[in-house]
Amino acid sequence: MTTIVVAMGEKNEIGFENQLLWHLPKDLKHFKEITSGHPVIMGRKTYESIGKPLPNRTNIVISRKNDWFEEGILIVGSIKEAIKFAKKIDEEIFIIGGGKIYEQTMDLVDKLEITLVKADLEADTFFPKIDSKIWKKTDEICHEQDEKNQYDFCFQTYEKIKSE
Ligand SMILES: NC(=O)c1ccc[n+]([C@@H]2O[C@H](COP(=O)([O-])OP(=O)(O)OC[C@H]3O[C@@H](n4cnc5c(N)ncnc54)[C@H](OP(=O)(O)O)[C@@H]3O)[C@@H](O)[C@H]2O)c1
Repeated sequence: MTTIVVAMGEKNEIGFENQLLWHLPKDLKHFKEITSGHPVIMGRKTYESIGKPLPNRTNIVISRKNDWFEEGILIVGSIKEAIKFAKKIDEEIFIIGGGKIYEQTMDLVDKLEITLVKADLEADTFFPKIDSKIWKKTDEICHEQDEKNQYDFCFQTYEKIKSE
């Protein structure tokens, strides 16, 4: 199973100036729970935004630059290569962004784990439109904002509609 994990606002916004748009510890915990122990695939800019390898996960970073190296990550030159390596490690693999990588993998994945944040924020990076002819929402759990989580948000699962 190949799954995209993303947190997005009401206009599909996901980032601004290579940063996330909110601070939601409950979402970070959820992200850790679903991805820990499995390979995670990300674009070079998302890796730079995180700043270090995510622990307890094989970090696969996609880049066209072939002149860099960093301890603790596997750098590959294409999405195809990233998925090939990840599948060698585990059946459950996760694609964790950012915008450029989501755009190119929407058609390749089986599942979307979305955190829909009830906010409308300035952004320069967006998640692709979710086509309701292709994707069906199969689960949703909502949480209200509190002193530590600044917005209301819902964890949503989408699965690809199987053609008969
Ligand atoms: N809200 C969320 O859930 C979430 C999750 C992740 C990221 N984000 C946000 O998204 C933003 C980053 O997204 P982004 O779209 O700017 O960048 P990105 O998708 O993280 O990375 C783009 C880079 O990936 C490499 N790349 C992309 N397609 C490739 C391909 N087909 N073959 C080889 N390399 C490829 C290139 O690296 P090189 O330039 O090195 O060649 C490209 O510059 C940040 O604001 C981040 O905070 C949000």
